[in-house]
Amino acid sequence: MEAGRVFKITINGQAVEARADDTILKAAQREGIHIPTLCYHRQLSPYGGCRVCVVSVEGIPRLVASCTMPVTDGMQVRTDSEQIRKIRSTVVELILSNHPKDCMVCEQSGRCELQDLAYEFGLSHIRFKGEVSVHEIENQNPVLERDYNKCILCGRCVRMCDEIQGVGAVDFSKRGFRAKIATAYDGVLDCEFCGNCIGACPVGALTGKPSRFKGRPWEVRKVKTVCNYCGCGCSIMVNVKGGEVVRVTPVEDGGINEGMLCVKGKFGFEYINHEDRLKTPLVKKNGAFVEASWDEALDVVAANLGRIKKKYGSDSIGGLCSAKCSSEDNYLFQKFMRTAIGTNSVDHCARY
Ligand code: SF4
Ligand code: SF4
Ligand code: SF4
Ligand code: FES
Repeated sequence: MEAGRVFKITINGQAVEARADDTILKAAQREGIHIPTLCYHRQLSPYGGCRVCVVSVEGIPRLVASCTMPVTDGMQVRTDSEQIRKIRSTVVELILSNHPKDCMVCEQSGRCELQDLAYEFGLSHIRFKGEVSVHEIENQNPVLERDYNKCILCGRCVRMCDEIQGVGAVDFSKRGFRAKIATAYDGVLDCEFCGNCIGACPVGALTGKPSRFKGRPWEVRKVKTVCNYCGCGCSIMVNVKGGEVVRVTPVEDGGINEGMLCVKGKFGFEYINHEDRLKTPLVKKNGAFVEASWDEALDVVAANLGRIKKKYGSDSIGGLCSAKCSSEDNYLFQKFMRTAIGTNSVDHCARY
């Protein structure tokens, strides 16, 4: 009953209608009012760990995290003031005081949320000096590198892996200065390698190895397409540099897969540029395969199927279709096998 109610609140003096299940951040975002965030991720449960999103609320003596604070009717919120800017800026400065300054070679540079905040607050100088955490880089797998020296402990990867991927391969470990993200018993990563944690990470702590040093965000052209590995048909953006696919990222609105991919769609793009990739049909002539047009290849197939059917009968031919094709393609294929060839010997690779 409560969730359907509309609350009248003000944000920076502006009247805003909020839903009863809104946080302050959600209500502000809907109005296009900027509040910086770091641990917040639109698809994940609110965490309230970084305190970058603090705002002031009339009647509450301290600043509150807007990503976790629910709206109440009549609430008066301020998202910007000298005090708020100072606190947000100090929070970011503290994070940076324990963070490598290697933006020049960091994979995430140009799409790093911490870099953007350092720029927003003009943090060219860090006042806080002291011990920094040192972690070994873990990359004992073909696709994903974990460099927790860059981790800001926002927990987005933990929530992504648990809440959306349903795997729970990583979690917070230890406390205080020694806190870090780790696998069970701090072993090497042994998971589904979907890479959805990479997409959730706001900094360069998690990176895809097949894309490393292959193209900065501003150097690539993004082309929206559909993953062709299976019939799920996930929407993807192939990032192209110099005619070569260097990375796969989710589409802007997430697409039917809501931005999630599996290991094949996320990392299996190198075949696209492979020199052995077939780009035209091949037809065997004098014992060797030679390139042919589609018309020529289909004529050869039709002639041979006709010849085999005539000589050995319809049931001497069987057809295998693929989960990579659409349902319509698969329907047409079985129809072709049953009506044109005249056999029920038709199957599908998804059954293996
Ligand atoms: S790759 Fe996928 S399964 Fe592995 S830790 Fe990341 S989100 Fe979890
Ligand atoms: S690895 Fe990235 S997403 Fe995970 S806690 Fe660290 S900064 Fe956040
Ligand atoms: S990303 Fe994975 S699930 Fe999605 S279409 Fe590609 S292979 Fe299928
Ligand atoms: S974004 Fe709100 S506390 Fe981190």
